[in-house]
Amino acid sequence: DYYAVIMAGGIGSRFWPVSTQEFPKQFHDMLGTGETLLQKTFSRLNKIIPSENIYILTNEMYLEITLKQLPKISEEQVVLEPAMRNTAPCILLSALKIKKKNPNALMLVAPSDHWIEDENAFANDVQACFDAAQRENILLTLGIEPTFPNTGYGYIESDKNDISEIKKVKQFREKPNYETAKQFLADGNFLWNAGIFIWSAHSIVASFEKNLAEMNALFSKGTDVLNTSEEKNFIEKNYSEAENISIDYGILEKAGNVFVKRATFDWNDLGTWGALYDKLEKDENQNAVVNAETLLKNSASNMIFTDTKKLVVLDGIEEYIVVDKEDVLLLFPKKKEQQIKELLNEVSHKF
Ligand code: GDD
Ligand code: MG
Repeated sequence: DYYAVIMAGGIGSRFWPVSTQEFPKQFHDMLGTGETLLQKTFSRLNKIIPSENIYILTNEMYLEITLKQLPKISEEQVVLEPAMRNTAPCILLSALKIKKKNPNALMLVAPSDHWIEDENAFANDVQACFDAAQRENILLTLGIEPTFPNTGYGYIESDKNDISEIKKVKQFREKPNYETAKQFLADGNFLWNAGIFIWSAHSIVASFEKNLAEMNALFSKGTDVLNTSEEKNFIEKNYSEAENISIDYGILEKAGNVFVKRATFDWNDLGTWGALYDKLEKDENQNAVVNAETLLKNSASNMIFTDTKKLVVLDGIEEYIVVDKEDVLLLFPKKKEQQIKELLNEVSHKF
């Protein structure tokens, strides 16, 4: 059987003020298509995986909004985390649940907030990985051709001479510094980690046993109660004890059985306003507009977003992020988008 888990517990702080802790970006219609990023992710996966086998991993705060946005799933399919502990703990917990349901289950792990245009290509890539994960005890990730030394991604090295479709990973390096990332690009045999993983429930649990043994021991205590009415209580009591670590640092950097398939689809992790801008259609002056009426004069290359459907009038504004929300108006240079996250330290008491 095929299962999927969608990670939807992040805060998306670089998309402030639209993304907030109460209402993070995965629950917003960031692309202006009428569907939220979570809904788009769900329907993409639902083409390959039955809806009753799709789990959503998220913080307790987001239960209601998750059920409202995904009417096809039931409350049992939402795994609620009482605390933010990054991606390793929630992946282990869901893998244990899935393994208990079906010891031979294959599972896909996907972020809730990415942009993927070609859903057929995505489905084919995933199927190829499922087939490989069924045959062997390996952990698979999808790799993206890198275009610049982005320090916010994981880098995956494979052998230059390996021409197989699915390659053995020589080295997985999460978030290298700029110099190292530049070197990786120059070397040429590195891909970006798309953050989409495929493995059998059995293989990933075995890797936790080896690489994050303490976390595995903590959650395995609860095997008897998983998928029962006592599960919630167990999670409530134990989840916060788990180490705060991502799957990338905790497992992928350490495991020796990681493989990569080069993705055949276009991908963007929509991590910042600039990344969203890149993916949107622009007007003749390269302005991207979501959810707003505009009157633009002598203004170019702006990213304009409202959730109020206001009329936005600009004159002489270039390369700005212009965001209008009911309670915040943000005018911020696109070049400084990485610093939006830092603003939160100064305004967090309010938002
Ligand atoms: N359920 C849950 N709980 N989900 C979480 C949590 C958590 O505590 N923390 C993060 N997530 C979700 C986010 O919402 C996102 O969908 C996904 O997990 C990945 O987390 P990010 O915080 O966005 O990770 P990242 O961008 O720093 O790095 C990852 O993604 C890159 C590609 O976008 C890594 O996998 C990198 O290697 C990769 O290149
Ligand atoms: Mg991310």
